[in-house]
Formats: sequence, C-alpha cells, structure tokens
Amino acid sequence: MTVDHSATRSRDTLPLADRAAGLVGSVIDSSTSLLAAQTHDIVRFAMGSPADEAVPLAEFRDIADQVFDHSSMTYGATEGEPVLLDNLVEYLAGTSDPTTEDRVTITAGGMQGLDLACKIFINPGDLVIVESPTYTNGSATALSYGAELLEAPTDENGLIVEALPDLVAAAGRTPKAIYTIPNFQNPSGTTLSLPRRHQLLELAHEWNAVIIDDDPYGLLRFEGEDLPSLQALSPADPLLFSVRTFSKILAPGLRVGWVDTDPALRQLVINAKQAMDTCTNVPAQHIVAEFIRRGGLDKHLAGLRTEYRHRKDSMQESLHRNLGSRVTTTDPEGGFFLWLTLQGEDARISTQKLFETALAEGVAFIPGPALSASGRFDDALRLCFASTTPERTEEGIIRLRRAMDLELDALNGSGNS
Ligand SMILES: Cc1ncc(COP(=O)(O)O)c(C=O)c1O
Repeated sequence: MTVDHSATRSRDTLPLADRAAGLVGSVIDSSTSLLAAQTHDIVRFAMGSPADEAVPLAEFRDIADQVFDHSSMTYGATEGEPVLLDNLVEYLAGTSDPTTEDRVTITAGGMQGLDLACKIFINPGDLVIVESPTYTNGSATALSYGAELLEAPTDENGLIVEALPDLVAAAGRTPKAIYTIPNFQNPSGTTLSLPRRHQLLELAHEWNAVIIDDDPYGLLRFEGEDLPSLQALSPADPLLFSVRTFSKILAPGLRVGWVDTDPALRQLVINAKQAMDTCTNVPAQHIVAEFIRRGGLDKHLAGLRTEYRHRKDSMQESLHRNLGSRVTTTDPEGGFFLWLTLQGEDARISTQKLFETALAEGVAFIPGPALSASGRFDDALRLCFASTTPERTEEGIIRLRRAMDLELDALNGSGNS
C-alpha cells in the first residue's frame, strides 16, 4: 500500500537546512519566465541579454559541425578544456585584463564564478559590502552562504569608496568581502574611477577582505578610455577574485565564463567546482575556443561596441523626446544598462507598480527595488538598451510613457481603475 503524504506536508514541516532561509532567488531571472508566459507583444528592456542579431549563430553552427565529436561529449577537465584555456589566455593578453593560465578556471557563466567566490570565502554571519544598487543575483549568492550585507552608496563614478570606512566603523566589524562591478555596472551603467580603484585595493588590504571583482561588461566599452582592471593595478594580489563571462560578449545560453584568481587558490576553486558540476559544458567550451581561435572575437566585439553605442544613444534620444524632464538617466560608456530615475511628480510612482501597468501596455523593465539588497529605489528602474533595435526602443519608451501617465492618473484620483 502506498501512503499519500501530500496532505500533511508543507514546506515548513520539511527538515530544511538553515541556509534555505537565505535562498532568496532572483527577480531578474524570474522575469525571464514571467515574460516567456506573456502572449502579447512586449518590448523587452528587462533582461540583460545580447541582441538576438548580435549572436554569431551561423559561425556557431559551422563550428559545432567541426568540434562536435565523441571527445566533446564526454567529461572534461574541471579547470576547463585546455584548448579554451590556451585561446582565452592568448586573447586576453591583448586586452586591459591580461592573465596567465595558472590563474584561470572555466566556469558555468559568471553566476558560478560568484558562487565559487562566496563558497570559498563566506561564513554564515560574515559582512559583505555590496553596491547600492547592485546586481542582486550577486548579493543573493552571498546571502545563500549566510552573509550579512552592508549596502554602500554609488554615484556616477561607481562605488563611493570614500564612504566605506565610516560605514564599516558603524557596522562595528570589518567586511570579509567587497562585491563590486567596476565597469558599466549592472544596473547603473557607471564605472569605478581610477582613484577609487586604488583606494578600494588599499581598504581591502587594511581589512583583509576579498574583492569579488565581477566584470562581465569590461570588453564592451564604446566611449572613453579603458581603465586598468583591479588585477592590472594590483598584479598577483591574492585578495582579488575576478569573475568573468562570455554571456554578454557571445551568448548567455552557452553558460561559459571563467574566474581569475591567485594560483594558490586555484586548486580550492577546482575542488569547490568538483562538488558542484564536475566540469563546464564541454561542447559549449569548444564552440567558444574555436570562435576565439578563428580570430572572430575582436571583430565581433568591435561590431557590438558600434551597435550598442548606437542603441544607447537611440534610447537616450527616445527618453528625451518622450519623457523630457520627467526622468533622468545615467550615461554609461559601455555595457548594457541605463538607470532611470523618475523626477518631480512622477517620483511618486512606485516602479514596482509601474512594472505591472507597463507589462500590460507592452513594455518590460526591472524595477529599482529588485536591484537593491534592501529594496530601495522604488522611484528608479533599469533599462537594457542592448537587446532592442532603435525602432523598437522608441515604441517601448512610448509605451513606458503611457504606463507612467496611467499610474500618475491613478495617483491623482483621475484614473479609470
Ligand atoms: C554583473 C553581473 N554579474 C554576473 C552576471 C551573470 O553572468 P552569467 O549569465 O554568465 O552567469 C551578470 C548577468 O547579468 C551580471 O550582469
């Protein structure tokens, strides 16, 4: 006889680990499922995904034909396929982010890099500094290991590093880790200035805190000059744990990224990854390796930079044309995102509420509170300019204005609903 336990079991009665309470998930990722379930036309400014037309699909198909054989369908080395490690390190030698093979471990995207960093460094109760706003998948990863988050303010030059000593003094203990996105930050689009990079490194050493340097967008600068990476400013620094990914420069569905760490830490990274997934998707690694070997990455990135600059400009023009002084935005020099803040009377609108109205009107974004560890920024939202053509962007901003008008009418008591 089988016993049906379903009626007596709720999640609360299950013997969950304490850490389950810290598994807060991601509003950003959930919006992928939410949007997939919609049947009406939606202009999608929500996900930080490359444009469909920016993915070199024909070349990937050609490469897949060449590299898919039995050796790419079996288990691979945990640290990564040798051919990818070789080609990646050779490629990075010509960028502002050079490295050596004894530092690199291939990961299942940037998210696994963040998970590895937290798994290795964070004990329950440890203090972790996060930017405000931040990429909340990163802060959620720290929370999943029991971290306590200390939100630090940002401005147009990224994390306000000068504010950290006072914040830390007020917290009464030093941080174990500082989570920063130094280039074209997600979600604000801002870049950490050079003096602040130096200052951040100094503070990390003063506190013996690891810097989780999460930089998926650094190779996507379309204006201004590259700043030296934290690694370049502090070579062979054991307190730097750098997280990188091909998601934004090739395709997120590949799930291929890498971490760049002190060689003394590499075996620990490999051990931690072995307890997660054995190795990163082998065929995907071969696709990326061969794409780099064929010399395609530089040309591809040059094309992306030109297109994304055009798309950012178009979005700002659309915003100016349709919303004028009702909003302000940041002005990123690269990457994917604009951070928009409602002004004047519009600042009374909750962007969380606006999200629902906007979705019904056919436009999606990420509301500010989803990008803050403590749910701040209800008067702000994130727009991804990279995945949408200028024509669609104009349509999306018109829909956003309509949604704002509806919300404002409702607040002023003149709405129909
Ligand atoms: C700042 C930041 N870190 C990490 C990631 C995750 O990258 P991946 O999709 O490769 O896991 C993202 C993706 O949006 C990101 O913006």
